[in-house]
Amino acid sequence: MKLHVTPQSRPLGGTVTIPGDKSIGHRALLFSILSATPIRVRGLGDGADNGRSAKAITALGATIARDGDAFVITGTGLDGMRAPTAPIDCGNSGTTIRLLCGLLAGQRFATTLFGDASLSKRPMRRVIEPLSLMGAKLAGEGSGLDITPPLVVGPALERLAAIDYTLPMASAQVKTALLLAALYADGATSLVEPGPSRDHSERMLAYLGAPLVVDHRRVTIETRGWDRRLAGSGFEVPSDPSSAAFLVAAALLAGATEVRLPKVCTNPTRTGFLVAIEAMGGTVTLEDVRTAGPEPIATLVVRGPAQGLRATEIAGDLAVRSIDELPILAVLAARAKGTTIVRDAEELRVKESDRIETTCAMLRAFGVACEARPDGFAVEGRPDGAFTAGRVHADGDHRIAMAGAVAGLLADGETVIDDADNVATSYPGFVAAMQTLGASITAT
Ligand code: S3P
Repeated sequence: MKLHVTPQSRPLGGTVTIPGDKSIGHRALLFSILSATPIRVRGLGDGADNGRSAKAITALGATIARDGDAFVITGTGLDGMRAPTAPIDCGNSGTTIRLLCGLLAGQRFATTLFGDASLSKRPMRRVIEPLSLMGAKLAGEGSGLDITPPLVVGPALERLAAIDYTLPMASAQVKTALLLAALYADGATSLVEPGPSRDHSERMLAYLGAPLVVDHRRVTIETRGWDRRLAGSGFEVPSDPSSAAFLVAAALLAGATEVRLPKVCTNPTRTGFLVAIEAMGGTVTLEDVRTAGPEPIATLVVRGPAQGLRATEIAGDLAVRSIDELPILAVLAARAKGTTIVRDAEELRVKESDRIETTCAMLRAFGVACEARPDGFAVEGRPDGAFTAGRVHADGDHRIAMAGAVAGLLADGETVIDDADNVATSYPGFVAAMQTLGASITAT
C-alpha cells in the first residue's frame, strides 16, 4: 500500500475516536485466558497486532465471542491451557511473541512461535535469558549477537523457579513476560527496571487478583499462599495515545480549528510525547479527565496552530515514556527552531525497523537534516517554508509511514509513502481519520 499526501492549505478540525490502545489490548486478550471467569473486553482496537494475540489465545483453548460492541473471552484458568495444534503466527507483533514466551514458559507442552520478516529479526535474548534463569526451556535461531524467532517455548517439566532480576533495559514486554511466568513460579519473583516502562500489566494483573506488589521500580509476584485463581468481569480499553500522537502532531503542524480525540489513555508511562510537545511550545489541552478501569483517560484537544515551536532535548525517563512517539516527535522537531536532540533511545534500533535510521531517512526525504546517533538522533529544525516533497520508504514500519504522512502535509507538493501496509498493524483507520479531520491523504 502507498499513501499519497497533498499539502494542507486549510486548518484541520473535527472529532475522531481513536481505536483501543494496542498495548492494553494485547494484555486484555493474553491475560483473559488466565481468568477463571469470562472477561468482557470493550474498546479493543482493530489492528492486526491485537488480532495475533486473539488468535493465539484461541489456539491455546480460550473462546472469544462477540457481544454487541464487546468481546467476551472465556479463558482456561492458569492450568487449563491446551497445546496448540500448529505453530502460532505472531505476524509483526513483538508484544504478542514476547508476552507469549512468558505465558507459555510454565506450560507442560511445547509451542512454536514465529512471525514475519521484521519480527524474525527482532532480539529475543532479553526474554529468553531471564526465563531460562527461572528454569524455562526456550530455543530460537542464533543470529550472531542475539536469538531470533522462530522460537520453541517449553515444555516445563516442573514448576518454574522464582528469581530476583534486574532488567538490563526498560522494557514493558520483558517485564510482562516475566510477570506472567512468575505466576507459574514457586515463591517470590522480583523484578527491577532501570526506567519507567509502561505499567499496564501491573495495573491489569492486580485488577485480576494477581499477588503483585509494586514498589517504585520493583515489582514482585509472590505465589506462596495464593489460590492460583485470577478473575474479573471486564476490561475497558481506552484509545491509543500512540495512534493519537499522529493526529495531535498533524493538528499542531497544519493548524486546527479544533481537533478533539476522546478517551485517550493518559497513563503517565505513555504521555511523554505530551511533555515533549509542551517543552517545544505546543499546547494540547486535556478535557473530560477521568478513569476507565485501572487507567486514566482524557479528551485530547488541539486548537490553533502551534506558533513558534522550539527545539528540545528528549532523554532519560522521558525517552522511555515517549519511545513509540519519537518518529512523530521528530516531525514536530523538523518544524521547530533549533536542533532537537534525542538521547538514551537505543531501543529504537530494535523496533519494527531500526527507527533511528528510518526516522532520519524519512526526514531527509523532506529535505530536513537529521543525524543518526548510536542512541538517538539530532534534527535540525526548519521552522519556515515548506518541506521538499519527497518519496518516503516506510520500510514496513507503521509508525514511520504515519509520521511521514503527517510531514507530507507541510510539503511543497505530493508526498508518496511506499511500503505502508503495516499501518494496519496498529491503526487501520488512520487514513480515514485524517480525512475526517480534513487532510487530503489517500491510500492506493
Ligand atoms: C510495548 C512495550 C514497548 C513498546 C511496544 C509495546 C508493550 O516496548 O515500544 O511498542 O505493549 O509492552 P518495550 O518492551 O521495549 O518497553
